Amino acid sequence: MRQATPSPFPDRFEIRKIESNDIPWVLAILAHSNLYCGPIWSVALPQEGRTERVYKFCRAMEGVIRHNVADNFSYGVWDTEYKFKRPESASTGGKLYWDESNLDATSEQLLEQMDFPLVSVAVAFDGLKKPDTSLYDPIIELIPIFGKLTQAMDAGDIRKPEERKPRLLGEMLFRFGTATRPDYAKHGLAKGLGHWLLKEAARHRFLGMQIGVAHAALEKVFMNPPAPFTAKIVSDVNLAEFEVEEDGVKVKPCAACGDVPFKKIYVSFG
Ligand SMILES: CC(C)(COP(=O)(O)OP(=O)(O)OC[C@H]1O[C@@H](n2cnc3c(N)ncnc32)[C@H](O)[C@@H]1OP(=O)(O)O)[C@@H](O)C(=O)NCCC(=O)NCCS
Repeated sequence: MRQATPSPFPDRFEIRKIESNDIPWVLAILAHSNLYCGPIWSVALPQEGRTERVYKFCRAMEGVIRHNVADNFSYGVWDTEYKFKRPESASTGGKLYWDESNLDATSEQLLEQMDFPLVSVAVAFDGLKKPDTSLYDPIIELIPIFGKLTQAMDAGDIRKPEERKPRLLGEMLFRFGTATRPDYAKHGLAKGLGHWLLKEAARHRFLGMQIGVAHAALEKVFMNPPAPFTAKIVSDVNLAEFEVEEDGVKVKPCAACGDVPFKKIYVSFG
């Protein structure tokens, strides 16, 4: 194995492998960031019922995230100088205080209740060990357009079918999700972690990583990988024009998202 991949961050921020104990925090970051700050879900889904949707999204994603974490290729950034908001959290190393009976909690209140030092995440799995499709069902049930968008992304993949799937274990890494909590956004954490993950995967002799992006920041991160890696867009869904049929009527559910990217990128390490 080649030398350990150096961290791109100052000592304050540590990259650590996500363990199963961390899953509730990972889910909270993914759900909160995507539904309140993600340029698709914060726009295309109704404002009404958003708090409840955040709680439900955590539960719906749990199976897929457990699968990702069990595959040992999911990493997070921990703030080693994190200041706990409550003494009880300090004594346990961090705690999530969401109260699922509180359907009026605001984005700020939910964030304040995420009293733990995990601040940014990137979850991924070996492409040959795809989660069973049934694990995605709860997400699609909660957010039906997630399923339709994913289908459109797969249908638009320009690669030959045999190039889309790895043949062997350890060949292609699939990045499932990236998120930084908003109080740590724009500090280079997603970029640092994303590029570190590419290098770490190459160190483990993967040939490349596939990434679905739904945010301009991540398109920038993964279309500009560290040398000598090269990136290519292999699927591109035009959200403004994306059409589905509801009750026999054609609608464009993501029209308000405008030019937000919804793309699949393949980064080759060769
Ligand atoms: C997208 C997200 C992960 C970015 O995290 P972050 O830690 O703030 O990102 P970084 O600070 O590392 O920024 C990465 C790059 O994107 C740029 N960037 C940051 N926010 C941006 C934005 N809103 N639009 C365009 N570019 C942006 C940065 O300037 C940086 O570019 P640089 O290389 O020139 O410095 C975070 O905003 C997030 O979690 N959003 C909600 C969840 C989501 O949409 N996830 C994506 C689903 S695929």
